[in-house]
Amino acid sequence: MTVILGIDIGGSGIKGAPVDTSTGQLTAERWRIPTPEGAKPADVTGVVKELVEHFQHSGPVGITFPGIVQHGVTLSAANVDQGWIGLDADRLFTEATGCDVHLINDADAAGLAEAKFGAGAGVPGVVMLLTFGTGIGSALINNGVLVPNTELGHLWLRDRHAESWASDRARENDDLNWKQWSKRASTYLQHLELLFSPDLFIIGGGISKKADRWRDLITLERSRLIPAALLNDAGIVGAAMYAETETGKEKPARPATIKAQHVEQSATRKTGTKTKTTSKPSTARKPAKKTK
Ligand code: BGC
Repeated sequence: MTVILGIDIGGSGIKGAPVDTSTGQLTAERWRIPTPEGAKPADVTGVVKELVEHFQHSGPVGITFPGIVQHGVTLSAANVDQGWIGLDADRLFTEATGCDVHLINDADAAGLAEAKFGAGAGVPGVVMLLTFGTGIGSALINNGVLVPNTELGHLWLRDRHAESWASDRARENDDLNWKQWSKRASTYLQHLELLFSPDLFIIGGGISKKADRWRDLITLERSRLIPAALLNDAGIVGAAMYAETETGKEKPARPATIKAQHVEQSATRKTGTKTKTTSKPSTARKPAKKTK
């Protein structure tokens, strides 16, 4: 049995637990610490260190991050402090904890866990997990193999930024009932269906706990759709699974120049049907700005 500490960095809480990676089961009770106001790198690092100490852990650690993670560097920050952009977060956490840290996007981690131990267990072919919460996260998995950083919450549907229009936060901001939100989610999912033809959609994030409210209202052309099964634990389990596969591998060299990726901040105010986002257009429309 291999036990690896999984840590899930979320907007409201940072949660951790040791995971038996052969079964996906937590071997001790989850420990949750509220995310420090603003989710600044130094403060979040302090919490990660606290979690490692709480479990008196000394082996590999898998950590999720709610943005693009390429070779341990965090490259976008749609819903967290902008100080994460271009940061070698892997090194920051490794130095702070003294552990062998491996960093992965939050939805990618949830996707790995759901595909192996949750709603997608035993499903061959293309599984696409989408998390609907503050943002929309995505994971694309083909026969158990992940294509990382798909970031499909930042697709544009005509003039609508998908995440700002169809996330759970958009549902709350726009006072949508479940029928209205499901209509938006269906439009978005049907577009993904056209682009990727997944064999199975898994719907996770905050809304997966309320599946009876939306499950029958979402309409698709041809794919199956099921709510996530691991709920709050998916990120923790997936982070630990990722750390297990990466442990022992040589970490790829950090890019000499790190270019930030501009993604939309998901809307924090009412968006209306014709969404006008509060920030600049995405790279889908204009090239990313260069940073140092
Ligand atoms: C981020 C993704 C993340 C998702 C869910 C999006 O805004 O760009 O990387 O997976 O939110 O947290």
